[in-house]
Amino acid sequence: MAEEIGFNATASRTSVRYCSVEDLQLLISRDQIAKRTAELGKQITSDSKGEPVVFVGVLKGAAIFLSDLVRQVQVDATFDFISVTSYGIPAGAKQEKTWDSTGEVRLTKDVEQSLRGKNVILVEDILDTGLTLAFLKRLLLGHQPRSFRVAVLLDKPARRKLAVEADYVGFKIPDEFVVGYGLDYAERYRNLPDICTLANVSLS
Ligand code: IMP
Ligand code: MG
Repeated sequence: MAEEIGFNATASRTSVRYCSVEDLQLLISRDQIAKRTAELGKQITSDSKGEPVVFVGVLKGAAIFLSDLVRQVQVDATFDFISVTSYGIPAGAKQEKTWDSTGEVRLTKDVEQSLRGKNVILVEDILDTGLTLAFLKRLLLGHQPRSFRVAVLLDKPARRKLAVEADYVGFKIPDEFVVGYGLDYAERYRNLPDICTLANVSLS
C-alpha cells in the first residue's frame, strides 16, 4: 500500500536550503525514499517469481528512481530508457510558473531492445493526469510483452484525467508541484536528494 504523504495541511513542513537553491519545503526525505524503494523492490522480486524483468525508465525524471529500484530487485534484470515530450504548453508558461500537462504526448526516444515476450516494468517518476502513462502503456503493449506492469515513485490522484493506475506506487501526494530526486522544474532541481514542494508554481 502506497504511503500517503503531506495530505494533512496543518502539519508543519521543514524548509530546506541546498547550496544556492532558494527555500523549498521538504515533502519526502531521502531516508523515506530509500525505505519505500526497498519495499517496492521486495514486492517486485516476489511478484516476478524468479522470471527475468526488463525495466523501462521514462527519461529524464525516472532515471534516479530506476537506478535505486533495480538494485533492490533480486531477479535477473535489464533496463532501457524511453523518452517523451508533452505538446501544447502555452508559450512562456514555464517562465510564468504556470504548468500543465496537455493532451499531446510524443515519443522522442524508443527502447533499444525488443520487448516481445518479456516481462516489462515501466518506471515513471510521477503519475499525474495519466496522459503520459496512457500513451506509453498503449505503445509498449504494442510490443507484445509477456507481462506489463507499471511502477511510479509518486502518484497525484487528484489530477487524474484518464483512468490509468500503477501496479507499484511509492507515495501518494497531494496536488502540489514537487521537485528533486529526478523531478524538475524547467530542468532544475533534479539532483536534490529529497523530494520538495516548490512554492508559486500554479497547477492548471
Ligand atoms: P501526466 O502525463 O500528467 O501524468 O504527467 C506525467 C509527467 O508530468 C511526469 O513524468 C513529470 O515529468 C511531469 N510532472 C507531473 N507532475 C509533476 C510535478 O509535480 N513535478 C515535476 N514534474 C511533474
Ligand atoms: Mg517525466
